[in-house]
Amino acid sequence: MGKVILVGAGPGDKELITVKGLKAIKEADVIVYDDLIDKDLLNYNKNAELIYVGKRKGRHSYKQEDINKILIEKAKEGKTVVRLKGGDPFIFGRGGEEILALKEHNIPYEIIPGLSSATALPALAEIPLTHRKVARSFTVLTAHIEDGEVDFTKFNGDTLVILMGITKLKKIVNDLLKVRDKKTPIAIILKGATKEQKVIRGTLEDILDKAKNIEPPGIIVVGEVVNILQKN
Ligand SMILES: C[S@@+](CC[C@H](N)C(=O)[O-])C[C@H]1O[C@@H](n2cnc3c(N)ncnc32)[C@H](O)[C@@H]1O
Repeated sequence: MGKVILVGAGPGDKELITVKGLKAIKEADVIVYDDLIDKDLLNYNKNAELIYVGKRKGRHSYKQEDINKILIEKAKEGKTVVRLKGGDPFIFGRGGEEILALKEHNIPYEIIPGLSSATALPALAEIPLTHRKVARSFTVLTAHIEDGEVDFTKFNGDTLVILMGITKLKKIVNDLLKVRDKKTPIAIILKGATKEQKVIRGTLEDILDKAKNIEPPGIIVVGEVVNILQKN
């Protein structure tokens, strides 16, 4: 029997993976990978079988059950399988579902966490998610749910970090304007930790004008911390 190692690749830049995650990649027989990982990571192992299971436009998109099946079958063949995911596998990454499937089939597994886009990208954009006397809590949420729409008025951390929200920016801003001041700072970090990273800063009042025609992937950060390091 082989095993499955669930590895978080970190966001964007390949150098944001952990030492342990990189070691697992180098030792893998099979690497099952998604979008949003730095594909250069795959060059660290020239011998592994590479299986892409992401959702790139125009290509067959794998259902979660198909991915689980691949992991189980390859491990049963005696292979060491690295399941490589962007950011941290347990933050909106469906890592939990894959581990449950492995448990059900008695497949040995290991978990190697990764830096999540939710915390690493604000840091790279010089936004501390907490800051003494300014923000004592932060809430990470997804803007994408399968059944219906998210009500963004319901989330009340000092700082909000919203994933999968770029195409829903208008609804996010309109909801937040009902519960937060219109001067509340907001930042949008697009293609974070890549050469094309772009950070757009504004307020709830003007961000829709500043951020026209933007495309995923991106995260949205809301709260006073957005500008705390911008002053002098
Ligand atoms: C399915 S979620 C996976 C999150 C991932 N597990 C993590 O911890 O970062 C995908 C979302 O993560 C965010 N994301 C991940 N990598 C990103 C990057 N390099 N730049 C901007 N946003 C990113 C975006 O909001 C994107 O829509």
